[in-house]
Amino acid sequence: MEIISDINVMEKWRNEGEKVAFVPTMGGLHQGHLSLIDLARENADRVVVSIFVNPTQFGENEDFADYPRTLDSDLKLLEKHQVDCAFVPNVEVIYPDKVVFTRAGFEEKRYLFETLCGKTRPHFFYGVLQVVRRLFEIVRPDVAAFGQKDYQQLQIIKRFTSGVKVITGVIVREEDGLAMSTRNQYLNMDERLIAPNLYKILRQLQRGELGIKSATEQLQSDFELDYLAMLDANTLKQITDNTSKIAILCAVFLGSTRLLDNIIFTK
Ligand code: PAF
Repeated sequence: MEIISDINVMEKWRNEGEKVAFVPTMGGLHQGHLSLIDLARENADRVVVSIFVNPTQFGENEDFADYPRTLDSDLKLLEKHQVDCAFVPNVEVIYPDKVVFTRAGFEEKRYLFETLCGKTRPHFFYGVLQVVRRLFEIVRPDVAAFGQKDYQQLQIIKRFTSGVKVITGVIVREEDGLAMSTRNQYLNMDERLIAPNLYKILRQLQRGELGIKSATEQLQSDFELDYLAMLDANTLKQITDNTSKIAILCAVFLGSTRLLDNIIFTK
């Protein structure tokens, strides 16, 4: 596996005629990332994985400083998983002028950026899009794989990037149903036992065993609820007669850890 930090080397890495798939990550790799790498490999000749903790997608009081940085073990995992190239840029490579958060170009599209997770994390999706576009510019992949756990992020990337085919991996779960996430390692032992209740309640809502009001109450008894919504999965707006796919989307806090989960299903 090649490990590249230099932008010039990365920009020239791909060979004429070969298909390159890309998996952008912030490191702290787990089985969910590995399943995206498998998906990427099925769709291309060679696979590039980036590891970059992007400052512009964190708000001031968020966990940028504490975000797990496990580069050595991440690289070992990628090597073992037969990734062709790990792109590990430093901040100057991604933001050569300086790190500037910007909403430029998306003022008209605020709804998707500022609803749901965007209410609690107003920076987040603008920062994600900024870094994903920059990474696409450098790596120039044909295909890029993103997980479905951050469903709103996925919709924004699909809508506001071009020239790269976005493919989607399903949510990978622990045996007890908890969606895998780098941030799960913040949970203490008691919290880890409670955390799977999030998915259990969403499943009950999907099956009609709970309504939205009772699901909200159940969530509030275990978690601090950020939001729970049942929306049209394509527009992230109210369900209408034209809705074909429904998204149950939820974010909660457990102690200081924010957990995210969703279920997408056809009507
Ligand atoms: O989903 C993530 O890990 C990040 O938001 C991403 C897409 C790598 C951008 O930093």
